[in-house]
Amino acid sequence: MKYIIVTYGCQMNVHESEKLAAICEKMGYELTESRDDADLIVFNTCAIREGAEDRVFGNIGALKKLKKKKPSLIIAVCGCATQKESTASYIYRTFPFVDIVIGTFNLPLFEQYVLSVKNGRQMKLLSEGDIDENIPYKRTSGDNAWVNIMQGCNNFCTYCIVPYVKGREKSRKEENILNEIKSIISEGKYKKITLLGQNVNSYGKDLIPQVSFAKLLSDICALEGDFKLTFMTSHPKDLTDDVIDVIANEDKILKDIHLPAQSGNNRILNLMNRRYTREKYLDIIHKIRQKIPDARITSDFIVGFPTETEEEFLDTKKLVEEVKFAGIFAFMYSPREGTVASKMDGQVPQDVKQRRVNELLALEKEIQKRLK
Ligand code: 5AD
Ligand code: SF4
Repeated sequence: MKYIIVTYGCQMNVHESEKLAAICEKMGYELTESRDDADLIVFNTCAIREGAEDRVFGNIGALKKLKKKKPSLIIAVCGCATQKESTASYIYRTFPFVDIVIGTFNLPLFEQYVLSVKNGRQMKLLSEGDIDENIPYKRTSGDNAWVNIMQGCNNFCTYCIVPYVKGREKSRKEENILNEIKSIISEGKYKKITLLGQNVNSYGKDLIPQVSFAKLLSDICALEGDFKLTFMTSHPKDLTDDVIDVIANEDKILKDIHLPAQSGNNRILNLMNRRYTREKYLDIIHKIRQKIPDARITSDFIVGFPTETEEEFLDTKKLVEEVKFAGIFAFMYSPREGTVASKMDGQVPQDVKQRRVNELLALEKEIQKRLK
């Protein structure tokens, strides 16, 4: 019996798939590289932008032929897209050959769903779940080991679906994180450890007693072993001085800092509910560069947020020009069901978004050339 997992989206999803892989192997399935050979196909989906969802729909459709050839094939779709009731029901209705449709919080029960497929198709959506503590992973990312430190997000940036599909922030207990890292180090296979969370800087605020992200970082660095430590993603409003100091002072911490700015314009930042201004963002960048001269700062930007004018977009270009990031990701704003921004007036036409994203990426390319 063979399994294959197809993963869409971010590193957190890649890591979730490592959890799914461990469950599949525990059930006795072996990994295959080819969908044609598989007895169990799992799609781990992403909902961050519309394009990510459309790609999933297209690829699920293509499985129909495989199921016809091998009726015993089990097809499961899970992840952020299917955590939304509307998308889950759409997939369940449109693709009758899909056996299991489950949301992000149902993953711990995955084995149970697979074992009960013989009793018929299932669509199951839990609306909330505890954070997984000590569970096995089948690590698949070479000499990098992902370590989840928290799940969910409390920020409700107005464009973002994450708080709706991943729930509120929940931190893992520091002791459990440290134990997982100790066992990663003792395996001797991993050079790099990457801590994962939607908003790592607010790690530990929900724990009793509270633990700061800076303390977690220094406690990990105090562990014996030859490894490098990095993390993602930081929210500019929560990147505190103590965290910058730990990054500056600890040799084990890589000097890569991903700090999504999203926009360079204060009116848009406010509409996005980002809770910092362009000036505050630039202050943080200056502080980082003062304390960590070799910092490699990267960022994300969204262009064409509702009502964004040409001038406001120019502020984003100016910010990119001024900061000279080590790299940026630029996205066209994509309305997500249920979010505040999707209901705002002044949605920007697709061709304008496309031009703005092209311009921003062209500028970035030119800056990179100059920096070399
Ligand atoms: N449309 C476009 N980009 C988005 N992002 C998040 N939500 C949306 C959306 N609705 C981008 C942000 C974030 C990155 C992971 O994806 O820039 O930092
Ligand atoms: Fe989404 Fe904002 Fe949370 Fe990031 S901080 S996951 S952009 S709501």
